[in-house]
Amino acid sequence: MTFSVAVSGKGGTGKTTIAALLTRILWEKTGKLVLAVDADPNSNLGEFLGVRPSKTVGDIREDLLREKDRLPPEQTKDEYLNYMILSSIVEAEGFDLLTMGRPEGPGCYCYVNTILRRLLDSLEGRYAFMVVDCEAGLEHFSRRTTRDLDVLLILTDATKRGLTTVERIKELVGELDLRFRSLFILGNRIPPEFSGQLEEEAKTIGLPSLGMIPPDPQIQRLDLEGAPIFKLPEASTTYRFVEEVAGRLLKLQKPMLERS
Ligand SMILES: Nc1ncnc2c1ncn2[C@@H]1O[C@H](COP(=O)(O)OP(=O)(O)OP(=O)(O)O)[C@@H](O)[C@H]1O
Ligand SMILES: [Mg+2]
Repeated sequence: MTFSVAVSGKGGTGKTTIAALLTRILWEKTGKLVLAVDADPNSNLGEFLGVRPSKTVGDIREDLLREKDRLPPEQTKDEYLNYMILSSIVEAEGFDLLTMGRPEGPGCYCYVNTILRRLLDSLEGRYAFMVVDCEAGLEHFSRRTTRDLDVLLILTDATKRGLTTVERIKELVGELDLRFRSLFILGNRIPPEFSGQLEEEAKTIGLPSLGMIPPDPQIQRLDLEGAPIFKLPEASTTYRFVEEVAGRLLKLQKPMLERS
């Protein structure tokens, strides 16, 4: 059974950085394959992971709309989509990458989502973990594209807007009956002098906190160099922090496995 973690939060809070690092660490700590899903229409998880994404699911959908009358008669739309989505998955050492791309455009995206969900179910045995890099804000949740995942990490920076977004995401998850088994708040780029205050805010919101990652010059250096997350030294603050987060998530995984 795949253990799935989605990373959400306000724009620029570090979702892609943390999703990429979590992908790396889950692979390095367990030796088990991770499916990294870039669910942000402004896709850049591939860049952070140091791989070039191929076609996105959005592109495939557009192709289907264009080509649907030209498909060979023996090939159904479902088969075409399944085949194209599977071949869009980029394989790398320790992880595969699936890039969702843009959901907009004429026609209904629900159909592709249904195919995609079925496909992910069929890949279930292949991946021990799935890490989803969500789109900023709330849109994603309203479209209900992230359903039935195990863990939702909601990131915040040290801003009121960051915290308000956490609160709104938490409310939406309840309102839309999205079934995450656990929700956590995770502070990122939090100056140490504010971390106490943010922990208090997390308590007020009513979410367990996984801690407050401080601003990390080594992350900034990677960004400046355009280097992938695999270049982040294991001794760096953020690596160690996310290693602990991964450890806590892995502990959650066990009782879930026993229950299922
Ligand atoms: N702990 C940290 N210390 C310093 N810089 C950080 C830290 N975490 C992330 N950053 C930097 O913050 C910026 C935003 O990070 P990232 O792109 O991961 O955020 P995001 O939430 O995915 O953004 P978007 O909403 O645009 O998708 C990047 O330049 C990244 O290098
Ligand atoms: Mg991002």
